Amino acid sequence: MISAVIFDLDGVIVSTDEYHFRAWQELAKDLGVPFSREDNSRQRGVSRMESLEVLLEKSERSYTRDEKLALAEKKNMVYRELLAQLSPEEILPGAMEFAEESRKMGLKIAVGSSSRNTPFILKKIGLTDYFDAVADGNDIQRSKPDPQVFLIAAERLHTPPEKCLVIEDADAGVEAAKAGGMSALAVGAAKEHPNADIRAESLDGLRVAEIMGLLS
Ligand code: G6P
Ligand code: MG
Repeated sequence: MISAVIFDLDGVIVSTDEYHFRAWQELAKDLGVPFSREDNSRQRGVSRMESLEVLLEKSERSYTRDEKLALAEKKNMVYRELLAQLSPEEILPGAMEFAEESRKMGLKIAVGSSSRNTPFILKKIGLTDYFDAVADGNDIQRSKPDPQVFLIAAERLHTPPEKCLVIEDADAGVEAAKAGGMSALAVGAAKEHPNADIRAESLDGLRVAEIMGLLS
């Protein structure tokens, strides 16, 4: 019996994907490294430093740890500038309806995101105090597909993992949910993930009651 829903942030609650892409693309251009949408899709759900490693796979030179930290910081500055224009209008269709219906059904709701920009993004979209708990990139040592961020969210909700449903748009996120012993609803880019318990195009039009029925 599910008693809590943990939402991934980027790509589930809000559409920041294009901003991440543009910021990484700018860095790649500076470094003279080719960077495609396909490379970008491998960065979904994983930490900033691991995302940088994806980009640097095509680089001809190697970088020291300090240089990598500086490159990640540079990308983040560009990303934060792009996020300045973020508003509640960029909340993805169906996300708020799903959260509201979850609440009405007595389920607890949380955010579980690898992003260290989570507090900033939640503020920009007006949801800072909306969730019962938030666990994000600032809380973790291991990013998805490790389940750490979701396990922290579950703990903050005082809910055992097997009673949590995770909503994810990243393959790494679906794998993290399952590794943590949780149910997974895969949407968007992860919608075909074989390990997901339920797959859907997006949250738009999904009814929580129906999803719970499919899981019981
Ligand atoms: C999310 C995104 C990833 C991103 C990660 C870290 O999981 O899907 O693409 O790399 O957050 O984001 P940050 O905002 O901390 O750079
Ligand atoms: Mg995501």
